[in-house]
Amino acid sequence: MKPVALTGITACVFDAYGTLFDVSSVARGAQDALGDRWQALSDLWRTKQLQYTWLRGLGGHHADFWQVTGDALDFAMGTLGIQDDELRARLMDLYLRIAAYPEVPAMLAELKARGIKLAILSNGTPQMLAAAVANSGIAEYFDAVLSVEEVGVFKPHPGVYGMAPQRLGVSKEQICFLSSNGWDAFAAKAFGFRVLWCNRFGQMPERLPGTPDGEITDLSMLPARLAR
Ligand code: LAC
Repeated sequence: MKPVALTGITACVFDAYGTLFDVSSVARGAQDALGDRWQALSDLWRTKQLQYTWLRGLGGHHADFWQVTGDALDFAMGTLGIQDDELRARLMDLYLRIAAYPEVPAMLAELKARGIKLAILSNGTPQMLAAAVANSGIAEYFDAVLSVEEVGVFKPHPGVYGMAPQRLGVSKEQICFLSSNGWDAFAAKAFGFRVLWCNRFGQMPERLPGTPDGEITDLSMLPARLAR
């Protein structure tokens, strides 16, 4: 059965890491140095990075995503027994030049041509996000690039999601939020957005409040899911 298209959407708000940008492209970029350990490093780095965002939030010890990303990398490299300052610096630099998923530029161009407002809402610092969008040549498409640094707490704090309607001048229900991170998609739905979970990795639904309005497997499927 063809999925029902969402009606009344005037803005699309995207998570950055994992959704627009391929997190695994970072460690893959240093495969020459990491060999077959690149995937293990990539997975542990990402897992720890997210854990640190949640734990810092709960404990009231916010530090920005650049710090958290570096701390998580140190943990992951340490766990795998890799001691190499040069490689650490190279991986952090690669994080700034993270690759967008291949379908992203054409999808953004199509939505922009339809007059839909476009924004990023991410844990990333303004500097990290500016570098990522510039590197992929997609900066021109966005009406706003929103960083949690404006509110000083990470997702899934409702204060983070609240930035989007405020800054875009639209209601929560007019926003279609996209994330490949299940927990982010569920939290955004619980906040009140319309949500399509970009379930790139075929993950199980979360057992958390806020079941998304639908699922897609990559962002090329998004334009067809928004009613004209
Ligand atoms: C972000 C993380 C959740 O971009 O990937 O906010």
